[in-house]
Formats: sequence, structure tokens, C-alpha cells
Amino acid sequence: MLTVPTFSTARTEIAGLAITELVRTFGTPLYVYDQSVIDQRISDLSAFDRIRYAQKASSNLAILDRMRRQGVVVDAVSAGEVRRAIMAGFSPDPAKHEIVYTADIFDRESLELVVEHSLHVNCGSPDMIGQLGARRPGAEITLRINPGFGHGHSQKTNTGGEQSKHGIWHEQVDQCLLEADHHGMMITGLHMHIGSGTDLEHLSAVCESMERVAMKVGRTVRTISAGGGLPVPYKRDETYVDLAKYFELWDATRDRLSKAFGHRVELEIEPGRYLSAESGFLIAEVRSVKKVGNNLFVLVDAGFNDLARPVMYGAHHPISVCGARGDVSSRESVDVIIGGPLCESGDIFTQREGGFVESRPLPMPFVGDFIAIENAGAYGFVMSSNYNSKTRAAEVLIEQGQPKLIRKRETFDDLVRGEVIPD
Ligand code: LLP
Repeated sequence: MLTVPTFSTARTEIAGLAITELVRTFGTPLYVYDQSVIDQRISDLSAFDRIRYAQKASSNLAILDRMRRQGVVVDAVSAGEVRRAIMAGFSPDPAKHEIVYTADIFDRESLELVVEHSLHVNCGSPDMIGQLGARRPGAEITLRINPGFGHGHSQKTNTGGEQSKHGIWHEQVDQCLLEADHHGMMITGLHMHIGSGTDLEHLSAVCESMERVAMKVGRTVRTISAGGGLPVPYKRDETYVDLAKYFELWDATRDRLSKAFGHRVELEIEPGRYLSAESGFLIAEVRSVKKVGNNLFVLVDAGFNDLARPVMYGAHHPISVCGARGDVSSRESVDVIIGGPLCESGDIFTQREGGFVESRPLPMPFVGDFIAIENAGAYGFVMSSNYNSKTRAAEVLIEQGQPKLIRKRETFDDLVRGEVIPD
């Protein structure tokens, strides 16, 4: 039974380890992941035949390795993600289905890699079928279908409907069947991912659409994928989707298709954030606390170069304060705006979509304290950049009470590697 976490604004530890100790050892800004949370989330989804982790959410090799050891497989949306998956030990053998290339196009590098390893491809455009068919006639493929509607926590994460560039339009399935047939290819699976932040209402419409398309494609279909998009509570009033009902809807769809086709159709799920978001924290040090008119700004040493979700989507992340010497729960609560070091007004962690800056009640922070930006384990480090020539943060994974460095902090040399001053 899933319980919605209670967010506290004061925090001294992550997975039993003192934040002050972690920053003493590894410095700030620092991404910290608690492996036990990922393990729990994997076991929540054990009813599905296969959990395919959308590694775009957090693709550190150590995280991928731990997923693999628990029987989770991965998707890959770029040549880089394919290479990461192989490096983390996933087999490219298409029969094993451990890595699926799922994108809307092949860039030239990814097409070469897919052909070299005979990877299974989930085609997101009719062009992909033709391009793969020309190189690997007879390949088995999956189709990513845009069912004609979508749903996301932000318009930027809605991946269905006419406004979306994703997937094969549901009315073009016949055309895809002809194209696949032309190259002797077989469509063995169907996939629908309509966006991040699925609710049950949209989900039942997805299931209906999946059934319609699968009946059209016919009995070559052996796998259906529910895509990703399972929400996590970023705010006090947000909640998880009812997983039992979610599974029930998909299971019933799978069941009807299995009966219609005379073989068991497998059911996959492809979550990103559900597996990794709540495991992660971005820790930053408070470097300035200043009054600007009526506002109190707390400026920390991490910015949107480290965590882009607030500036990109107005995403809300719970934030807690850890004192330089630990507990702050007895401190007075004040309304603060939390920002970073970048030379850009949008570098604010407490903002709503549209760039509206908000203040939050937090225990009074002082210079030298730390903040923990919570639920940062998905689309956190992976979306970080070197804007303002900032080096990217280090990443640490906590397992059985041990903090392990899984990515070194970038150095200035890393930053300028590859740059050339011509004569
Ligand atoms: N499968 C496909 C085909 C996807 O495009 C995505 C996410 C997922 C699975 C995983 O979705 P999830 O379970 O994590 O919601 N940067 C944005 C999210 C972009 C998601 C892109 N695709 C954010 O920070 O909210």
C-alpha cells in the first residue's frame, strides 16, 4: 500500500546519513540518491511482466547497473543511452529485449548502432520503419502510437494529440503495416506513452485505443507497453495513481487481446520518474540571505544548471533546510524565495509555471546552512548543463548505509575539454 510521504521543511539526514557529513566528504552542489527508495518502487510494479526503465530520468551507470541486477530492463532514446545501457551490462540481443531503442527519429549515429547490434526498435514515425527496413529487412519491431490525445503535468510533457511530435498517428497504422510488410518486417509489439502525470481517466482511454490498434495489427502482437508517466507526489496535495486499478485496467486489456490472439500477450510498463524521482536529493549550501524590498532571498550554490525542472515547467519540489550544525526544527519559520548563482532572473527554485516567483515558509536559513531539494532523482542531474561555465555536480548513491561516489564532480579541465583556440 503506497503512502503519500509527509514533507518536512527541516531535515538532517538522508537514508540515515548526516547531510553535514555528506557535504564534508563530497562538497556541494551534490546529488544524493537513496537506493532503498528505488528498490521499493521496483517492487511496487512487480505485477507487470516487464519493467522497462526510461533511463532518460536518471542514467548514471551505477543506477542502471542496480536496475539491471533487479531484473529491470531499459529503453534508450539516443546512441548515448544505448552505449550507457551496454556499458551497464544490459544485453543488446534483440531476443532478450533488455534494451529497446525508442525514439521518433534515427539520427545517423543511432541508426548505425541499432544496425550494428541488431537492437529491437520501437518506431515512433513511419520514416523509422522505412529507414530500418532498408538496413534490416525482416526485423521485428514495435510501434509507438500517438492515440490522438495526451496528458501531462505540463504542456511540455504532454506527448499525445495533434500538438505532439511523438509517435505514429493512430490513423496511420494501415500505412505502417504496408511499409513493414514491404520490408518483410513483423510488428510484435505496441506502445503508448501519452505524457508524464497519467491519471486513471486518461488511462482507460489509452487502454481502449491500444485494444483498437492491436486488433488492427493482429496476432503478431506479443507485447503491449503502458509507457511511462506514473506520477509521484511533488507537493503535499499530489498523490500517486492507484496502482492496483492501473494494473487492473491494463491487465484486462492484455487479457482480452490474449484471448483474441490465442497466445499470452505480455504487459510492459516504462516508468522513469516513478522509479527514481523520490530517491534523489540535490544538496546545496546557502551562500547569501538578503532582503530585496519585502522579499527575503536565500541564494544557494546550485542553480538551474543543476536542476532545470522549476525554470522549465514551474515544477514544485519540496525543499528542506539542514543547519550547518544539524537540526533547525526549532527555528522561526520565514517566507523565503530560493535562488541560485546564475546570472539570470529565472534561476529560482521556488516558482510556478510562467515564471511567477513564489515564497515558501521554511525554518530561517543562514549562510553556511544547507538546503535539500527533494524528489530530484528524475530529470535532475540528467538535465544539468554547464551554463555560466559551472561544472556539474557530483553524484552519490547510498546503499546499506554506505555513501558511494558514482560520479565525480566535474573540473574546469572537463569543462573546456574539446575546445580549441585556432591560430
Ligand atoms: N517513455 C517514453 C516514451 C517517454 O517519452 C518518457 C518520458 C517516459 C517513458 C518516462 O516518463 P516518466 O515516467 O518519467 O514520466 N523532463 C520532464 C519529463 C520529460 C519526460 C519525457 N519522456 C520532467 O522533468 O518532468
